[in-house]
Amino acid sequence: MIMRLMLLGFLVFSLAFQGAVAATSECEECKTIVDLLQFEWGEKKTEECVMEIAVFICETFHIEDNDVCNFIISDFSDEFMYVISKILVTPHQLCGLLMKNNCGDFVDPLATIWNMTIPGNQPAYVPKQIVPAGNPTLRALHLTDLHVDMFYTPGMEAQCDTPQCCRPQDMNVEIVENYQSAVKEPAGPWGNVGSCDTPYWLLTNMLQHIANTAGQLDYVMVSGDLVSHTVWAYTPETHSFMVRNLSDTIRSYFPNTPVYFAVGNHEGVPVDNIAPHFTPKKYHMDWLYKTMSDSWKGWIPEDQEKTLEYNGCYMKKIYDGLRMISLNNVYGDRINFWLYINQTDPDGTLQWLINQLQDAENAGDKVHIVAHIPGSDSEALEGYALNYYKIINRFTNTVVGQFFGHTHSEQFYMMYSNPDDYKSTPNNVVYSAPSVTPYSDFFPAYRIYTIDGVHSGSTYQVIDYEEWYFNLTSNNANPTNVKWEQLYKSANAEYGLKGQTPDEYNQMIERMKTNDDLFNRYYENRYRRTIYDGRAPCSDQQCRNGYLCDARQFHQTNQLCTDLEGGMIKPKDSKKKYSARFVTSQEKRRGKEECKI
Ligand SMILES: *[C@@H]1O[C@H](CO)[C@@H](O)[C@H](O)[C@H]1NC(C)=O
Ligand SMILES: *[C@@H]1O[C@H](CO)[C@@H](O)[C@H](O)[C@H]1NC(C)=O
Ligand SMILES: *[C@@H]1O[C@H](CO)[C@@H](O)[C@H](O)[C@H]1NC(C)=O
Ligand SMILES: *[C@@H]1O[C@H](CO)[C@@H](O)[C@H](O)[C@H]1NC(C)=O
Repeated sequence: MIMRLMLLGFLVFSLAFQGAVAATSECEECKTIVDLLQFEWGEKKTEECVMEIAVFICETFHIEDNDVCNFIISDFSDEFMYVISKILVTPHQLCGLLMKNNCGDFVDPLATIWNMTIPGNQPAYVPKQIVPAGNPTLRALHLTDLHVDMFYTPGMEAQCDTPQCCRPQDMNVEIVENYQSAVKEPAGPWGNVGSCDTPYWLLTNMLQHIANTAGQLDYVMVSGDLVSHTVWAYTPETHSFMVRNLSDTIRSYFPNTPVYFAVGNHEGVPVDNIAPHFTPKKYHMDWLYKTMSDSWKGWIPEDQEKTLEYNGCYMKKIYDGLRMISLNNVYGDRINFWLYINQTDPDGTLQWLINQLQDAENAGDKVHIVAHIPGSDSEALEGYALNYYKIINRFTNTVVGQFFGHTHSEQFYMMYSNPDDYKSTPNNVVYSAPSVTPYSDFFPAYRIYTIDGVHSGSTYQVIDYEEWYFNLTSNNANPTNVKWEQLYKSANAEYGLKGQTPDEYNQMIERMKTNDDLFNRYYENRYRRTIYDGRAPCSDQQCRNGYLCDARQFHQTNQLCTDLEGGMIKPKDSKKKYSARFVTSQEKRRGKEECKI
């Protein structure tokens, strides 16, 4: 601490001195810090203490929106050091990495675009039509972002300083906190909006409610993120336990219904980190994929277990003419630090996807994809997202359903025949289902799709869907008599859609520009909360444009929003960043006293 103050004092002095001569950029300041620390520790020590230097720089410059800064102050120094040793040649490059565009001498590997080879012979485009009535249908339950916290405890502080509240704070992490002080907001009996995850009993209450009321369900999709946000305490053991427990829990409520999971970013240990096979063996994810393959027995064909155990993906022919593909797209996650070494189609999952789609096209089958991270999310890599987009566009006639999660919000994304032109043909819709967890800004919810069923010439397109939610305001106030309520019975009726086609959704975006009632409905449903539950309204055009733009962007480009003034600014849900006190506790835990700045 003393050292830090001395250094800071010296730094401020030297910068003030330099500043008199020429304006110094933050980049130069950063390099000065690295030089100073290097001088203090000598060459070897700098390498050993690179974590601490990085944290110091992140804090000094208040860099909060840099993934790297968020990443390094979580608990994975080993992995970070391995990656850093592979990509950094000089200490100064650390500044380039942390300062992004401001510091010239580091080529951000995450900004690079690589190209998959897209197969030729694309069949003539067939626009998706509204599904005619009168044929058999399927009903599919979509759950996502369960984020179950087995240690959720009613009455505990809901406004704590770690990424996970509503639970005893002294668990798994040495945090010094004064619990004598009054609890600012006690965790509700059934869950809490904010930095709190799903109590196990809320999950089972939901599953019981679905089992009691939903009637016949043909299958279930779970698009990832099973574990809580206690990122500092992630281990292969905790994750394996949760994969087994939640798979078994869901199975116990739906013993005769197949369940199709996808891998979420929180399944990684450390969070977001799914190590590809080019890393040393000790980092491989074999343990996760093996646990999944064991826990999902009977749901996954035996001939797919090898793929699942290699990269967390699989394909199943679920009906005559319909295939389900579970794609592990954490291989395209920008906080997946291994990808800083090489982000080109890690473990060949996109090539595998292409092969699967080609095979389905050859057979005349339709495909549904269940996956976790949407391509436009700030946690997605543009290189990966754009390749995925192009692959789906090539097989646009074959891919008739995409079921994602991750954002916790319920929303949809358009796909266009030209990924950079919203006036080109809208050819697919991606569903982002509502989370079970209330984490950050939401009421728990689930969705049930009605899908064109098994009959000759089935489109296997979604026909409509219904949605149910759990009002935490009213249920926590009356905890012995809780209920799940229908948010809406028909998305088509709710939004005035003639059907679930890309055209209809694209027109809905246009209508929302001026139709306040329609937009507000979409906006409230997105959170499953109203202003009476503390959700701020989105009343000006710029705010609205942000949401409309979001619906158009399935990869990271501003070109799809040129008619939406202000819409370039993505609406941000308040995802909590790791706080400084959290860092301190991490440092204490690691006990690397010799590196303390
Ligand atoms: C990838 O393709 C784009 C055109 O779609 C091209 O501009 C770019 O140079 C290609 N990148 C590489 C690394 O081949
Ligand atoms: C899951 O874990 C909870 C909490 O430990 C336990 O009560 C429950 O019985 C477990 N469920 C299954 C199916 O293993
Ligand atoms: C990155 O991975 C791809 C795909 O495995 C491989 O073809 C390429 O050679 C790798 N690049 C480097 C620089 O190692
Ligand atoms: C939840 O319940 C509260 C209290 O009854 C009510 O004011 C609020 O509008 C409800 N929210 C939703 C989304 O139904």
